[in-house]
Amino acid sequence: MAALKIPFARVVCDGNELAYLREVIRSGWLTTAEKTFELEKRFGEAVGARYACAVNSCTAALHLALEALGVRSGDRVFVPTMTFTASAEIIRYLDAHPVFLDVEPGTNLITAPILEEAVRKHPGVKTLVVVHYGGQAAPMAAAGGREGILDLCRRHGIRVVEDAAHAFPSRDGGRMVGAIGDATCFSFYANKTITTGEGGMLTTDNAAVAERARIMRLHGMDRDVWSRFTSDAPAWEYDIVAPGFKYNMPDVNAAIGLAQLELAWPRRAERERCARHYFGALKGIPGLGLPALRVPMEDHAWHLFPVLLTPEARVGRNRAIEMLAAKGIGASVHYKPLHRMSYYRTTYGLEPEDFPNAERFWQGCLSLPIYPSLTEEELDCVCGALRDILK
Ligand SMILES: Cc1ncc(COP(=O)(O)O)c(C=O)c1O
Repeated sequence: MAALKIPFARVVCDGNELAYLREVIRSGWLTTAEKTFELEKRFGEAVGARYACAVNSCTAALHLALEALGVRSGDRVFVPTMTFTASAEIIRYLDAHPVFLDVEPGTNLITAPILEEAVRKHPGVKTLVVVHYGGQAAPMAAAGGREGILDLCRRHGIRVVEDAAHAFPSRDGGRMVGAIGDATCFSFYANKTITTGEGGMLTTDNAAVAERARIMRLHGMDRDVWSRFTSDAPAWEYDIVAPGFKYNMPDVNAAIGLAQLELAWPRRAERERCARHYFGALKGIPGLGLPALRVPMEDHAWHLFPVLLTPEARVGRNRAIEMLAAKGIGASVHYKPLHRMSYYRTTYGLEPEDFPNAERFWQGCLSLPIYPSLTEEELDCVCGALRDILK
Protein backbone atom coordinates (compact mmCIF):
# COMPACT_ATOMS: atom_id res chain seq x y z
CA MET A 1 0.00 0.00 0.00
CA ALA A 2 1.35 3.47 -0.91
CA ALA A 3 2.22 5.63 2.10
CA LEU A 4 -0.58 8.02 3.03
CA LYS A 5 0.14 11.64 3.78
CA ILE A 6 -2.17 12.65 6.59
CA PRO A 7 -1.67 16.23 7.78
CA PHE A 8 -2.72 17.25 11.28
CA ALA A 9 -5.31 19.68 9.88
CA ARG A 10 -6.95 20.16 6.49
CA VAL A 11 -9.29 23.05 5.65
CA VAL A 12 -12.48 21.99 3.89
CA CYS A 13 -14.01 24.72 1.65
CA ASP A 14 -16.39 22.86 -0.65
CA GLY A 15 -19.66 24.73 -0.04
CA ASN A 16 -20.77 28.16 -1.27
CA GLU A 17 -17.50 29.89 -0.34
CA LEU A 18 -16.55 30.92 -3.89
CA ALA A 19 -20.10 32.00 -4.83
CA TYR A 20 -20.38 34.30 -1.78
CA LEU A 21 -16.85 35.64 -2.29
CA ARG A 22 -17.74 36.57 -5.86
CA GLU A 23 -20.70 38.59 -4.55
CA VAL A 24 -18.42 40.48 -2.18
CA ILE A 25 -15.85 41.23 -4.87
CA ARG A 26 -18.60 42.50 -7.21
CA SER A 27 -20.15 44.61 -4.44
CA GLY A 28 -17.40 47.20 -4.62
CA TRP A 29 -17.03 47.13 -0.82
CA LEU A 30 -14.73 44.48 0.55
CA THR A 31 -14.68 45.27 4.22
CA THR A 32 -17.39 45.17 6.93
CA ALA A 33 -20.89 45.39 5.43
CA GLU A 34 -23.84 43.21 4.56
CA LYS A 35 -22.09 39.82 4.53
CA THR A 36 -20.68 40.49 7.99
CA PHE A 37 -24.08 41.61 9.31
CA GLU A 38 -25.68 38.51 7.79
CA LEU A 39 -23.06 36.28 9.41
CA GLU A 40 -23.74 37.96 12.76
CA LYS A 41 -27.47 37.38 12.37
CA ARG A 42 -27.13 33.75 11.34
CA PHE A 43 -24.46 32.88 13.87
CA GLY A 44 -26.48 34.51 16.66
CA GLU A 45 -29.49 32.43 15.61
CA ALA A 46 -27.37 29.27 15.42
CA VAL A 47 -26.27 29.56 19.06
CA GLY A 48 -29.47 31.22 20.33
CA ALA A 49 -27.80 34.45 21.45
CA ARG A 50 -29.52 37.82 21.23
CA TYR A 51 -26.41 39.65 19.97
CA ALA A 52 -23.46 38.57 17.83
CA CYS A 53 -20.51 40.82 17.04
CA ALA A 54 -18.14 39.68 14.27
CA VAL A 55 -14.44 40.49 14.69
CA ASN A 56 -11.13 39.56 13.11
CA SER A 57 -10.11 36.90 15.69
CA CYS A 58 -11.22 35.10 18.82
CA THR A 59 -8.42 36.93 20.61
CA ALA A 60 -10.11 40.23 19.66
CA ALA A 61 -13.48 38.90 20.85
CA LEU A 62 -11.97 37.88 24.21
CA HIS A 63 -10.32 41.27 24.62
CA LEU A 64 -13.58 43.08 23.80
CA ALA A 65 -15.56 40.82 26.16
CA LEU A 66 -13.33 41.52 29.16
CA GLU A 67 -13.22 45.24 28.35
CA ALA A 68 -17.00 45.46 27.98
CA LEU A 69 -17.55 43.56 31.23
CA GLY A 70 -15.45 46.12 33.05
CA VAL A 71 -12.15 44.35 33.75
CA ARG A 72 -9.71 47.08 34.71
CA SER A 73 -6.03 47.60 35.51
CA GLY A 74 -4.98 45.57 38.55
CA ASP A 75 -7.99 43.20 38.50
CA ARG A 76 -7.40 39.47 38.64
CA VAL A 77 -9.08 36.94 36.33
CA PHE A 78 -9.32 33.13 36.66
CA VAL A 79 -8.15 31.20 33.59
CA PRO A 80 -7.09 27.56 33.10
CA THR A 81 -3.42 26.79 32.53
CA MET A 82 -4.30 24.16 29.90
CA THR A 83 -5.07 26.56 27.05
CA PHE A 84 -3.61 28.69 24.29
CA THR A 85 -1.94 31.92 25.35
CA ALA A 86 -4.76 34.03 23.84
CA SER A 87 -7.05 33.06 26.75
CA ALA A 88 -4.63 34.72 29.19
CA GLU A 89 -2.84 37.40 27.17
CA ILE A 90 -6.07 39.38 26.78
CA ILE A 91 -6.13 39.77 30.56
CA ARG A 92 -2.72 41.40 30.33
CA TYR A 93 -3.91 43.67 27.47
CA LEU A 94 -6.09 45.34 30.14
CA ASP A 95 -3.22 45.41 32.65
CA ALA A 96 -5.13 42.87 34.74
CA HIS A 97 -3.55 39.63 35.99
CA PRO A 98 -4.33 35.98 35.28
CA VAL A 99 -4.88 33.59 38.19
CA PHE A 100 -4.16 30.17 36.68
CA LEU A 101 -6.26 27.12 37.53
CA ASP A 102 -5.50 23.42 37.19
CA VAL A 103 -7.99 21.33 35.19
CA GLU A 104 -9.90 18.09 35.65
CA PRO A 105 -7.97 14.96 34.56
CA GLY A 106 -9.35 13.33 31.41
CA THR A 107 -11.41 16.30 30.17
CA ASN A 108 -8.92 19.13 30.77
CA LEU A 109 -11.84 21.32 31.82
CA ILE A 110 -12.38 23.58 34.78
CA THR A 111 -15.11 22.19 37.04
CA ALA A 112 -17.19 23.77 39.79
CA PRO A 113 -15.14 22.11 42.60
CA ILE A 114 -11.88 23.41 41.05
CA LEU A 115 -13.38 26.88 40.86
CA GLU A 116 -14.88 26.69 44.37
CA GLU A 117 -11.42 25.98 45.79
CA ALA A 118 -9.95 28.87 43.76
CA VAL A 119 -12.65 31.26 45.00
CA ARG A 120 -11.82 30.26 48.58
CA LYS A 121 -8.14 31.07 47.98
CA HIS A 122 -8.75 34.24 45.93
CA PRO A 123 -12.05 35.77 47.07
CA GLY A 124 -11.30 39.07 45.28
CA VAL A 125 -11.35 37.59 41.77
CA LYS A 126 -14.57 38.57 39.99
CA THR A 127 -14.03 37.35 36.42
CA LEU A 128 -13.54 33.89 34.90
CA VAL A 129 -12.37 32.92 31.43
CA VAL A 130 -13.57 29.34 31.01
CA VAL A 131 -12.20 27.29 28.08
CA HIS A 132 -14.26 24.60 26.35
CA TYR A 133 -11.16 22.52 25.69
CA GLY A 134 -11.15 20.56 22.45
CA GLY A 135 -14.79 21.37 21.73
CA GLN A 136 -16.32 19.79 24.85
CA ALA A 137 -18.27 22.27 26.99
CA ALA A 138 -17.11 22.76 30.57
CA PRO A 139 -19.83 21.89 33.12
CA MET A 140 -21.62 25.23 33.05
CA ALA A 141 -25.08 23.97 34.11
CA ALA A 142 -25.95 22.04 37.26
CA ALA A 143 -26.09 18.28 36.59
CA GLY A 144 -26.63 15.15 38.66
CA GLY A 145 -27.29 17.19 41.80
CA ARG A 146 -23.97 19.02 41.42
CA GLU A 147 -23.72 22.77 41.04
CA GLY A 148 -22.50 24.04 37.67
CA ILE A 149 -19.88 26.71 37.00
CA LEU A 150 -22.52 29.29 36.11
CA ASP A 151 -24.50 29.06 39.38
CA LEU A 152 -21.29 29.07 41.38
CA CYS A 153 -20.18 32.23 39.57
CA ARG A 154 -23.58 33.89 40.06
CA ARG A 155 -23.38 33.10 43.80
CA HIS A 156 -19.99 34.79 44.05
CA GLY A 157 -20.68 37.71 41.68
CA ILE A 158 -18.15 36.41 39.12
CA ARG A 159 -18.58 37.41 35.46
CA VAL A 160 -18.15 34.55 32.99
CA VAL A 161 -16.43 34.84 29.63
CA GLU A 162 -16.37 31.62 27.63
CA ASP A 163 -13.42 30.90 25.35
CA ALA A 164 -15.26 28.79 22.78
CA ALA A 165 -12.46 28.90 20.17
CA HIS A 166 -12.88 25.11 19.84
CA ALA A 167 -16.56 24.84 20.59
CA PHE A 168 -18.85 25.47 17.66
CA PRO A 169 -21.24 23.78 17.48
CA SER A 170 -21.28 22.46 21.03
CA ARG A 171 -23.82 22.02 23.84
CA ASP A 172 -23.88 21.83 27.62
CA GLY A 173 -26.99 20.34 29.23
CA GLY A 174 -28.90 20.87 25.98
CA ARG A 175 -27.95 24.56 25.70
CA MET A 176 -25.78 25.79 22.85
CA VAL A 177 -22.42 27.20 23.84
CA GLY A 178 -22.79 30.86 22.90
CA ALA A 179 -25.89 31.54 24.96
CA ILE A 180 -24.72 30.51 28.44
CA GLY A 181 -22.21 32.91 30.09
CA ASP A 182 -22.03 36.72 30.04
CA ALA A 183 -20.11 36.64 26.74
CA THR A 184 -18.81 33.84 24.52
CA CYS A 185 -15.93 34.09 22.05
CA PHE A 186 -15.50 31.87 19.00
CA SER A 187 -12.54 31.44 16.63
CA PHE A 188 -12.81 31.15 12.86
CA TYR A 189 -9.05 30.67 12.40
CA ALA A 190 -8.09 28.46 9.44
CA ASN A 191 -7.91 25.17 11.36
CA LYS A 192 -11.07 25.69 13.45
CA THR A 193 -14.41 23.88 13.11
CA ILE A 194 -15.69 26.66 10.86
CA THR A 195 -13.34 29.22 9.35
CA THR A 196 -13.16 32.64 7.77
CA GLY A 197 -9.37 32.37 7.35
CA GLU A 198 -8.92 34.69 10.31
CA GLY A 199 -11.95 35.76 12.31
CA GLY A 200 -14.01 35.47 15.44
CA MET A 201 -17.38 36.19 16.98
CA LEU A 202 -18.54 37.49 20.35
CA THR A 203 -22.05 36.44 21.37
CA THR A 204 -24.03 37.69 24.36
CA ASP A 205 -27.55 38.32 25.64
CA ASN A 206 -26.37 41.48 27.37
CA ALA A 207 -27.29 44.59 25.34
CA ALA A 208 -24.72 46.80 27.08
CA VAL A 209 -21.87 44.33 26.44
CA ALA A 210 -22.90 44.02 22.77
CA GLU A 211 -23.10 47.79 22.32
CA ARG A 212 -19.73 48.40 23.95
CA ALA A 213 -18.07 45.62 21.91
CA ARG A 214 -19.52 47.03 18.67
CA ILE A 215 -18.14 50.49 19.40
CA MET A 216 -14.75 49.27 20.63
CA ARG A 217 -14.19 46.90 17.69
CA LEU A 218 -14.03 49.95 15.38
CA HIS A 219 -11.88 52.64 16.98
CA GLY A 220 -14.53 53.66 19.54
CA MET A 221 -16.62 55.30 16.78
CA ASP A 222 -20.26 55.96 17.54
CA ARG A 223 -21.29 55.01 13.94
CA ASP A 224 -19.76 52.35 11.76
CA VAL A 225 -18.28 53.33 8.40
CA TRP A 226 -20.78 51.32 6.35
CA SER A 227 -23.80 53.09 7.90
CA ARG A 228 -22.18 56.47 7.14
CA PHE A 229 -21.42 55.55 3.53
CA THR A 230 -24.88 54.15 2.87
CA SER A 231 -26.85 56.91 4.58
CA ASP A 232 -29.01 59.09 2.28
CA ALA A 233 -28.45 62.14 4.47
CA PRO A 234 -24.99 63.75 4.62
CA ALA A 235 -23.30 61.51 7.11
CA TRP A 236 -19.62 62.22 7.20
CA GLU A 237 -19.65 63.04 10.87
CA TYR A 238 -18.87 60.66 13.70
CA ASP A 239 -17.75 60.94 17.27
CA ILE A 240 -15.03 58.97 19.09
CA VAL A 241 -16.41 57.96 22.45
CA ALA A 242 -13.44 55.81 23.60
CA PRO A 243 -9.96 54.82 22.40
CA GLY A 244 -11.12 51.67 20.62
CA PHE A 245 -9.43 48.96 18.57
CA LYS A 246 -9.37 47.86 14.92
CA TYR A 247 -11.06 44.49 15.22
CA ASN A 248 -13.84 44.52 12.58
CA MET A 249 -14.36 41.53 10.29
CA PRO A 250 -14.13 42.26 6.52
CA ASP A 251 -16.90 40.98 4.22
CA VAL A 252 -14.30 38.92 2.31
CA ASN A 253 -13.92 36.81 5.44
CA ALA A 254 -17.61 36.86 6.36
CA ALA A 255 -18.51 35.46 2.91
CA ILE A 256 -16.41 32.37 3.63
CA GLY A 257 -17.93 32.17 7.11
CA LEU A 258 -21.50 32.18 5.78
CA ALA A 259 -20.72 29.21 3.54
CA GLN A 260 -18.98 27.40 6.38
CA LEU A 261 -21.87 28.03 8.76
CA GLU A 262 -24.30 26.38 6.33
CA LEU A 263 -22.37 23.11 6.67
CA ALA A 264 -21.37 23.36 10.32
CA TRP A 265 -23.65 20.56 11.55
CA PRO A 266 -22.85 17.91 8.90
CA ARG A 267 -19.16 18.68 9.35
CA ARG A 268 -19.47 18.28 13.12
CA ALA A 269 -21.04 14.87 12.44
CA GLU A 270 -18.07 13.94 10.23
CA ARG A 271 -15.66 14.81 13.05
CA GLU A 272 -17.79 12.72 15.42
CA ARG A 273 -17.37 9.84 12.94
CA CYS A 274 -13.59 10.25 13.28
CA ALA A 275 -13.85 10.32 17.09
CA ARG A 276 -15.98 7.15 17.13
CA HIS A 277 -13.42 5.45 14.89
CA TYR A 278 -10.60 6.39 17.28
CA PHE A 279 -12.53 5.27 20.38
CA GLY A 280 -13.26 1.92 18.71
CA ALA A 281 -9.83 1.24 17.24
CA LEU A 282 -7.63 2.60 20.05
CA LYS A 283 -9.26 1.14 23.13
CA GLY A 284 -7.28 -1.25 25.28
CA ILE A 285 -3.82 -0.26 24.01
CA PRO A 286 -1.47 -0.38 27.01
CA GLY A 287 -0.01 3.03 27.81
CA LEU A 288 -2.65 4.94 25.83
CA GLY A 289 -5.34 7.06 27.50
CA LEU A 290 -8.36 8.23 25.51
CA PRO A 291 -10.23 11.50 26.15
CA ALA A 292 -12.92 11.47 28.87
CA LEU A 293 -16.42 12.53 27.89
CA ARG A 294 -18.78 14.52 30.09
CA VAL A 295 -21.26 15.34 27.32
CA PRO A 296 -22.98 13.01 24.82
CA MET A 297 -20.89 12.41 21.67
CA GLU A 298 -23.30 14.52 19.61
CA ASP A 299 -22.98 17.57 21.90
CA HIS A 300 -19.21 17.75 21.37
CA ALA A 301 -17.74 19.94 18.59
CA TRP A 302 -14.82 17.48 18.21
CA HIS A 303 -12.25 20.09 17.32
CA LEU A 304 -9.49 18.01 18.95
CA PHE A 305 -8.89 14.35 19.67
CA PRO A 306 -6.17 14.44 22.34
CA VAL A 307 -4.72 11.16 23.61
CA LEU A 308 -2.37 10.57 26.53
CA LEU A 309 0.74 8.40 26.51
CA THR A 310 0.99 7.31 30.12
CA PRO A 311 4.31 6.58 31.87
CA GLU A 312 3.74 2.87 31.00
CA ALA A 313 3.87 3.61 27.25
CA ARG A 314 6.79 2.08 25.36
CA VAL A 315 7.83 5.46 23.94
CA GLY A 316 7.47 9.04 25.12
CA ARG A 317 5.28 11.68 23.50
CA ASN A 318 8.04 13.47 21.57
CA ARG A 319 9.37 10.22 20.13
CA ALA A 320 5.83 9.09 19.25
CA ILE A 321 5.23 12.32 17.31
CA GLU A 322 8.52 11.80 15.42
CA MET A 323 7.57 8.21 14.62
CA LEU A 324 4.12 9.28 13.39
CA ALA A 325 5.74 11.98 11.24
CA ALA A 326 8.06 9.37 9.74
CA LYS A 327 4.93 7.49 8.68
CA GLY A 328 3.48 10.65 7.09
CA ILE A 329 1.05 11.41 9.92
CA GLY A 330 0.81 14.86 11.49
CA ALA A 331 0.14 15.22 15.22
CA SER A 332 0.22 18.18 17.57
CA VAL A 333 0.24 19.05 21.29
CA HIS A 334 -2.61 20.85 23.08
CA TYR A 335 -1.13 22.26 25.14
CA LYS A 336 2.18 23.01 26.70
CA PRO A 337 0.38 24.62 29.64
CA LEU A 338 0.73 28.32 30.30
CA HIS A 339 2.41 27.80 33.69
CA ARG A 340 5.35 26.36 31.69
CA MET A 341 5.63 29.36 29.35
CA SER A 342 8.52 31.58 30.39
CA TYR A 343 6.54 34.83 30.44
CA TYR A 344 3.77 33.56 32.74
CA ARG A 345 6.13 31.36 34.78
CA THR A 346 8.53 34.16 35.65
CA THR A 347 5.99 37.00 35.91
CA TYR A 348 3.74 35.06 38.28
CA GLY A 349 6.28 32.70 39.91
CA LEU A 350 4.39 29.58 38.80
CA GLU A 351 5.52 26.07 39.81
CA PRO A 352 4.60 22.83 38.02
CA GLU A 353 3.62 21.24 41.37
CA ASP A 354 0.71 23.68 41.60
CA PHE A 355 -0.88 22.20 38.46
CA PRO A 356 -0.53 18.41 38.88
CA ASN A 357 -3.30 17.39 36.46
CA ALA A 358 -2.21 19.71 33.67
CA GLU A 359 1.42 18.61 34.26
CA ARG A 360 0.58 14.91 33.99
CA PHE A 361 -1.40 15.49 30.80
CA TRP A 362 1.14 17.75 29.14
CA GLN A 363 3.98 15.27 29.69
CA GLY A 364 2.26 12.67 27.52
CA CYS A 365 -0.39 14.35 25.40
CA LEU A 366 -0.65 14.37 21.65
CA SER A 367 -3.54 15.36 19.40
CA LEU A 368 -4.48 13.18 16.45
CA PRO A 369 -5.86 14.48 13.13
CA ILE A 370 -9.64 15.02 13.23
CA TYR A 371 -11.44 16.72 10.35
CA PRO A 372 -14.36 15.98 8.03
CA SER A 373 -12.32 14.88 5.01
CA LEU A 374 -10.42 12.14 6.90
CA THR A 375 -11.33 8.86 5.22
CA GLU A 376 -11.84 5.54 7.02
CA GLU A 377 -8.63 4.32 5.34
CA GLU A 378 -6.73 7.31 6.73
CA LEU A 379 -8.21 6.77 10.19
CA ASP A 380 -7.16 3.10 10.05
CA CYS A 381 -3.70 4.23 9.02
CA VAL A 382 -3.39 6.58 12.03
CA CYS A 383 -4.67 3.93 14.45
CA GLY A 384 -2.42 1.24 12.96
CA ALA A 385 0.61 3.50 13.22
CA LEU A 386 -0.10 4.37 16.85
CA ARG A 387 -0.70 0.72 17.72
CA ASP A 388 2.64 -0.24 16.09
CA ILE A 389 4.49 2.54 17.90
CA LEU A 390 3.10 1.47 21.28
CA LYS A 391 3.16 -2.32 20.93
C1 LIG B 1 -8.38 28.03 23.29
C2 LIG B 1 -8.10 29.12 22.30
N1 LIG B 1 -8.48 30.37 22.58
C3 LIG B 1 -8.27 31.38 21.72
C4 LIG B 1 -7.63 31.20 20.52
C5 LIG B 1 -7.38 32.36 19.62
O1 LIG B 1 -8.10 32.27 18.43
P1 LIG B 1 -7.77 33.29 17.24
O2 LIG B 1 -6.61 32.74 16.48
O3 LIG B 1 -9.04 33.29 16.40
O4 LIG B 1 -7.52 34.60 17.85
C6 LIG B 1 -7.21 29.91 20.17
C7 LIG B 1 -6.54 29.67 18.89
O5 LIG B 1 -6.09 28.63 18.55
C8 LIG B 1 -7.45 28.84 21.09
O6 LIG B 1 -7.05 27.59 20.80
